[in-house]
Amino acid sequence: MTRVGVAVPAAGSGRRMGGVRKPFLELAGRPVLEHALRPFLADERVVAVVVALSTADSDDPPAWLTALDPRVGIVEGGQSRGASVARAIDALPHDLDVIAVHDAARPLVSPETVAACIDVAAAGDGAVAGCPAVDTMKTVDAEGWIDATPARARLWHAHTPQVFPADALRRAYASGHEDATDDAALAEAIGVRVRMIDDGGVNPKVTRPHDVVVAEALLRARGDGA
Ligand code: C5P
Repeated sequence: MTRVGVAVPAAGSGRRMGGVRKPFLELAGRPVLEHALRPFLADERVVAVVVALSTADSDDPPAWLTALDPRVGIVEGGQSRGASVARAIDALPHDLDVIAVHDAARPLVSPETVAACIDVAAAGDGAVAGCPAVDTMKTVDAEGWIDATPARARLWHAHTPQVFPADALRRAYASGHEDATDDAALAEAIGVRVRMIDDGGVNPKVTRPHDVVVAEALLRARGDGA
C-alpha cells in the first residue's frame, strides 16, 4: 500500500484574524486543526502526520492534539509557511511514497478530495485541490492600477491539500522555498507535472474573521458539529 506522510503548517501568527491562535479556534465544537486533520487520519494510507506549530504552542501543545492519534507528531514551525512546511517534511519518516501538505486553516477539506489527490500522487504526478475562478481576476501594479485581465476560463484557485511523490516534493523544497505561497509552485519550478483536483470550492482557508462564520455554517450544514 502507498505510504503517505502529511505535513501540516499551523504556525501562522493569525495576523489577519487579530492575532487569534487559529488552529485552536473552535468551530462547531472542535478545533480548526482537528477538523483539518480528521480526513487524513481516516485514510489508511496515511502513516505519519507532522504538525508545525508556533514556538509557544510546540513547547506546550494542547492535550487533545497529543492524544489525537499515535501517527501525529509536532515540530516547531518557521518564519514563513514554506519554512514551516520544510521543517515538517524533514520530520516525516524517510521511506514515504507520497507527501501531502495541508494548511491547518482549511477545516472543511473532504475525505474524497484527500483521497483523489493522494491517488494522483501515488501514480507519479502532483495534485492540488482547488476550484475554477468564478470571479473575473485582475493583475495590478503596486498602486492597484489594473495591468491585465487574464482569461478566466483557465484560472483556478489553489487550495490544499497539495500532494506529490515524496522524492519530488523533497527535491522541490531543497531548491529553496522562501517566496513560495504554495507547494506546487516549487514542484512546478523543478518540472513536476501537477494537476488541479476540483474540491467544489467548499474548502475555504479560515483567514479573516468572517471566514469563521462561513466555515462554521458549512460544517454544521454538513452535520459535522455539536
Ligand atoms: O499565511 P497563510 O494564510 O498562507 O498560511 C497558510 C498556512 O500556513 C496556515 O495554516 C498557517 O498556520 C501556516 N503558516 C505556518 N508558518 C508560518 C506562516 C503560516 O505554518 N510562519
